[in-house]
Amino acid sequence: MLLLYATRDGQSRRIAAHIAARLAEGGIPAPPHDLAVAFPAPADLAAAPLVAVIAAVRYGRHLPEAERFLATHRELLARGPLVFVSVNLTARKPGKDTAEGNQYLRKLLARHRLTPAFATAVAGRLDYPRYTWLDRQIIRFIMKLTGGPTDPQSCVEFTSWQAVDRIAARIADLHGEAGHLT
Ligand SMILES: Cc1cc2nc3c(=O)[nH]c(=O)nc-3n(C[C@H](O)[C@H](O)[C@H](O)COP(=O)(O)O)c2cc1C
Repeated sequence: MLLLYATRDGQSRRIAAHIAARLAEGGIPAPPHDLAVAFPAPADLAAAPLVAVIAAVRYGRHLPEAERFLATHRELLARGPLVFVSVNLTARKPGKDTAEGNQYLRKLLARHRLTPAFATAVAGRLDYPRYTWLDRQIIRFIMKLTGGPTDPQSCVEFTSWQAVDRIAARIADLHGEAGHLT
């Protein structure tokens, strides 16, 4: 299977690595690939029994390499099975971690006319000291509106690693089902 990610600050890469480790324990090799480095070859995509994409959100959109990957390979991906995991801070709120409840995920799937076998959102990491001055001010403002931390020194990992384990288990199940079809 193919495990692909798009990240800027590293949390989506950490989530991909965690999923890869769980899959490896179950005997499924899935080394994570950074979409900003290269897209997989179309032949590898077509041959993969399952494609999983883990992508971070910035300012309302998934990272451009993830958007470009979906747009470029839409036809192949629509043949499925596809798993899409959106990493963002809105997903820290109850009900905002599903394909219906998370607006970024819902809009992305509608825009690309994709119906993944499994789509979910997982909460990312807030790391004010890392951000540029402008990004820090904008995100503090958004956090103020949504009841999140605003201390410019704060660094909070909202990611639930139990939720990531459940995502890995779901991917392993889908991989098993795909294996029976081929
Ligand atoms: C500049 C910037 C913009 C962001 N915009 C959003 C946003 O619009 N909605 C949201 O829920 N989270 C937003 N986030 C939070 C990121 O999705 C979160 O920090 C995530 O963990 C980043 O993933 P990465 O470490 O893989 O890049 C933003 C973060 C940054 C730094």
